[in-house]
Amino acid sequence: MNKNLTLTVNGETHQVQVTDRTQLAEVLRDHLDLTGTHLGCEQGVCGACTVIVDGKPTRSCITFANSIDGAQIETIEGYAGDPVMIKIREAFSRHHALQCGFCTPGMLATSHDILNRFASPSEATIRHELSGNLCRCTGYQGIVQAIIDVASQLEMEGIAPPKLAQKKRGVRPSFTPFEPKFGNAPAQAAQHPRGSVRAEGNWTVVERSIALPHPLGNVWTLFSDIRAVAACVPGASLTEQDGSAFEGEVAIAFGPIKAKFGGSGTFEANETDHTGTLLGQGADNGGQSNVKGELRYVLTPNGTTCFTNVGVTFHFQIQGMLAQFNRPELVTGFVDFLLEKFISNCNAVLSGGTVSTSHKIGVISLGWAVIKSFIKRRRS
Ligand code: FES
Ligand code: FES
Repeated sequence: MNKNLTLTVNGETHQVQVTDRTQLAEVLRDHLDLTGTHLGCEQGVCGACTVIVDGKPTRSCITFANSIDGAQIETIEGYAGDPVMIKIREAFSRHHALQCGFCTPGMLATSHDILNRFASPSEATIRHELSGNLCRCTGYQGIVQAIIDVASQLEMEGIAPPKLAQKKRGVRPSFTPFEPKFGNAPAQAAQHPRGSVRAEGNWTVVERSIALPHPLGNVWTLFSDIRAVAACVPGASLTEQDGSAFEGEVAIAFGPIKAKFGGSGTFEANETDHTGTLLGQGADNGGQSNVKGELRYVLTPNGTTCFTNVGVTFHFQIQGMLAQFNRPELVTGFVDFLLEKFISNCNAVLSGGTVSTSHKIGVISLGWAVIKSFIKRRRS
């Protein structure tokens, strides 16, 4: 279905017509002729397509244009006359920080963002912040030296970064319930034991069904208590609860990505049909990624056994630096890893024990789960 959007790109307002799955990169390059935004991998890995959306570096190849109606966007063409970008370009040239130049628009946008957020960044900080941008021909030494060079020029001139990263920390968006709600999705999930991961409009949808070896009454007691459920999710904790409203955190570590998401939401459980709905949204502690989602579940007795089936349907959107987690390969491995730990914790609690002390989502085990899922999907 075609939709009309308003986007402000490099200070100019544009009306564009897009479908649900038109990517921002396509709008920039094909609708607006801004071909300085390059496309490399087109799956959120290389960073060549990085542009600034509402002040945050964003991978335009995996950002649905439809999800950013009204946004302010800066592309590489929009930095003409920007005093910091002029210094960065000169430093890239001086330090031989490019050869073919394919990665350079994304490198320049990310470098500008680093210098916007950090005063005198160390080499380690620069390498960490640049780890989402890949260069296939130059190597990173010249790029890192160019950023160090500009940072010291700005320091000598007494120019402070406009957006210090520290100021962003601890800022949590307030929760406003969002549309749409997704009908009777959990009942459908319960009918698909192997589950699925798919795109639906600009949402990613995960469906899974799990069986817990405990009677429905006991499983319901656990699942109707959001604090008890949160305790079983690896890396998650509930920090506040007031009636149906809650605030919580989830910590993840995956390769160079170490993020702590904080957010808020609402939770409703209905004993009549043993269903629950959780609506939530949040941001990571660097303020670089936003996530929102709706999780629904339904419990049903499993035949004559004392097992209970739990059908889960999860609709979510991620925007910003971690948007590659919308990709089915990563989502599938991530979800299966979490489910395995979650089921094990639920079983422990329902059997009278406690959750595993290895409560954090670890780098190696999560990474291995994602790689296994990726290989499996390629073979199937
Ligand atoms: S083209 Fe590689 S991250 Fe977008
Ligand atoms: S300069 Fe060629 S890919 Fe980076």
